[in-house]
Amino acid sequence: MTNRVGLIGWPVTHSISPAMHNAAFQALGMDWHYDVMAIPPDIVTHGIREPMRHGYIGVNVTIPHKEAVMRIVTPDDVARAVGAVNTVDFRKLTGTNTDVDGFMGDLSAHQINVSGQTVIVLGAGGAARAAVYGLWRAGADVIVVNRTLERANKMLADLTVSAGVRERARVLTLDEAAEHAPTLIVNATPVGMWPNADDSPWIAGVPFPRGVTVYDMIYRPQQTRLMTQAEDNGGRAIGGVGMLVRQGALSFQAWTEREAPLETMMAAALIELAANS
Ligand SMILES: NC(=O)c1ccc[n+]([C@@H]2O[C@H](COP(=O)([O-])OP(=O)(O)OC[C@H]3O[C@@H](n4cnc5c(N)ncnc54)[C@H](OP(=O)(O)O)[C@@H]3O)[C@@H](O)[C@H]2O)c1
Repeated sequence: MTNRVGLIGWPVTHSISPAMHNAAFQALGMDWHYDVMAIPPDIVTHGIREPMRHGYIGVNVTIPHKEAVMRIVTPDDVARAVGAVNTVDFRKLTGTNTDVDGFMGDLSAHQINVSGQTVIVLGAGGAARAAVYGLWRAGADVIVVNRTLERANKMLADLTVSAGVRERARVLTLDEAAEHAPTLIVNATPVGMWPNADDSPWIAGVPFPRGVTVYDMIYRPQQTRLMTQAEDNGGRAIGGVGMLVRQGALSFQAWTEREAPLETMMAAALIELAANS
């Protein structure tokens, strides 16, 4: 019988995950299948049990269910620290968050060491939480900049309670942050995402730091305006497709207990992105 896994969210259109996972299963000759389930937010408790009832091994969880799922499964240390689950294993009724290691793994793959470095994280949503926690755990000095100040303060307060993030993490305005000589800027906002590819989360009028590396979690388009700004100022730019593939690969490994074929998953993700851009 086919082993089933999938994605729950609302909405879940344009997900790259089915292409990525199904290519991996095919490449390894595994009788597994990944599909997508749209579950409205008002029935998440019931909705997440449906795939379990139907014998699914596990699911990825995306917006807006990542926090609600924490009440249904037992989160591991990483999910508890971040406050969100993106990968559920129904066999153990456990949940983890592979965004943290997907992001940090992609930084490592690009030879970026953040220990002792000043890193600006733009945003205070779910992706920013994963980034701040991962960067802080790796020894970075993290500065959070967010449109809504209270949300950034709440994020750091939550991470302080859940993971002890206190020293080496603070909230500043963008112009204050720019003066702290960051070596890495992480965009964890959707600003610049297709179809608004001319937008940048770097506010006009604030000088762009020279020689800085930008990691933009956006993967559609693969070259964002923020990335171009970094390159125009003598810096380096990395887009979010590597994080996307690595977080998926970690889910794959959690469910199948097999090493994920990263290159196959990357190729499938790039084909899917090219087809839908
Ligand atoms: N590469 C990957 O694998 C990966 C994984 C996860 C997420 N992502 C990407 O990361 C981005 C954020 O995802 P998320 O799940 O964290 O979203 P989210 O929870 O909705 O948070 C969005 C954040 O962006 C800020 N923001 C939204 N619109 C803005 C605007 N017009 N100007 C300034 N700030 C704005 C929000 O600020 P306020 O607090 O002021 O509303 C909030 O802090 C998305 O583009 C997503 O695709 C990529």
